[in-house]
Amino acid sequence: MPHTFLPSPPLVGRLRVPGDKSISHRALITATLATGESRITGLLEAEDTLATAEAMRVMGAVIEKRDGTWHVHGVGVGGLLQPEVALAMGNSGTSARLLAGLIASHGITACLTGDASLSRRPMERIITPLSLMGASFAPSPVDRLPMMVTGCDPAVPIRYRLPVPSAQVKSALLLAALNTPGESEIIEPVPTRDHTERMLRAMGAAVTVSEEGGERIIRVRGRTDLHAAAMDVPGDPSSAAFLVVAALLVEGSDVVIGNVCMNPTRTGLFAVLRLMGGWIEERDARHVGGEPVADLHVRHSALTGVEIDPALVPSMIDEFPVFFVAAACARGRTVATGLGELRVKESDRLAAMARALTLAGARVEETADGLVIDGTGGEPLPGTPDGTAVATLLDHRVAMSMAVAGLASRAGVCIDDAAPIATSFPDFVRTLEEAA
Ligand code: S3P
Repeated sequence: MPHTFLPSPPLVGRLRVPGDKSISHRALITATLATGESRITGLLEAEDTLATAEAMRVMGAVIEKRDGTWHVHGVGVGGLLQPEVALAMGNSGTSARLLAGLIASHGITACLTGDASLSRRPMERIITPLSLMGASFAPSPVDRLPMMVTGCDPAVPIRYRLPVPSAQVKSALLLAALNTPGESEIIEPVPTRDHTERMLRAMGAAVTVSEEGGERIIRVRGRTDLHAAAMDVPGDPSSAAFLVVAALLVEGSDVVIGNVCMNPTRTGLFAVLRLMGGWIEERDARHVGGEPVADLHVRHSALTGVEIDPALVPSMIDEFPVFFVAAACARGRTVATGLGELRVKESDRLAAMARALTLAGARVEETADGLVIDGTGGEPLPGTPDGTAVATLLDHRVAMSMAVAGLASRAGVCIDDAAPIATSFPDFVRTLEEAA
């Protein structure tokens, strides 16, 4: 499904983004582990989160949508049923890794499958700690999906320091620990998104979080009931990121993006864009569903290149593709290093974005763990030459980033496949059309 994104008139008005993807996965999973009926509003209804919902149904949850609200009847901690079919995780690394953790402390066996992109992504990072808890794994060669996971009940509590900053690994271990007798301890040298901890605490789990010696320590006492909850999922800052960068780059733009989750573990991009000269104001700061939320007012701005502080990387890990587009249109040089993790996302995002931006006329050099970008100085990018299209490699964020590049180009940017956008932001194209 190729699609060309043409130079855009100013983007104006009030825009909406879908529910946060990370929080939506976690809402479905924790509601499945609760006793009683949870109600979820604002849930992201996209391919990734619907894959999680279906897997939860297959393992015993009753999930239905009525009058715009999702109702989930949970099975209780330890109550997952043996799945009778493979769990199809599609493109979703979060589903695959969190569910492997969930299954690890139940006496069941499940087969996890994924699309071509997910089947190339490393699973060793969860296999190692979950094996220490007693689970066993039969992955495809090396550490890939399709993978059989056999849980262990009772599982063994562990004390584990995360070797890579990963909220997926942390969350897999927290979910495994919920049905593990005794106390599990997870140590995070570098903080990552903390939605799982927030949600579990709100549902009555015995989870504590402390800072010790500059590290975050999360302790879970297992086999505590979770109570059903009413959950309201705030808007996704990672989806808002595309609209924010589009508004900064397209001349004359002035938009307000409503109800964006402003959890500090997620907002690194907005801080960096401000450093670059971007006009982004937070309005009406408030709390929704236990998370800080605000409306973002964004105006077209002249941007200057920047050197990325490695400490900010986890808080903008999913936003680098669109950040690179902003850098490609800025004045001066941008240097980003310490981004090795981007090579194991839905695609190798360093290689994919370097190639895509170069085809669109940007000046980009790929390094071992980052990119060096010399911006256009505020001029539009030339765009993709006639008859060529950038390769999106089943990666929704590469597709949407290059769409934004197209809006800020002279001749438009053609992407080879717009279908992956449905992974996280099904209304993306319509949202842009309505704003233009
Ligand atoms: C996510 C964590 C991050 C992020 C992904 C969603 C989550 O992955 O890139 O899109 O919901 O926990 P890692 O844990 O691999 O950093």
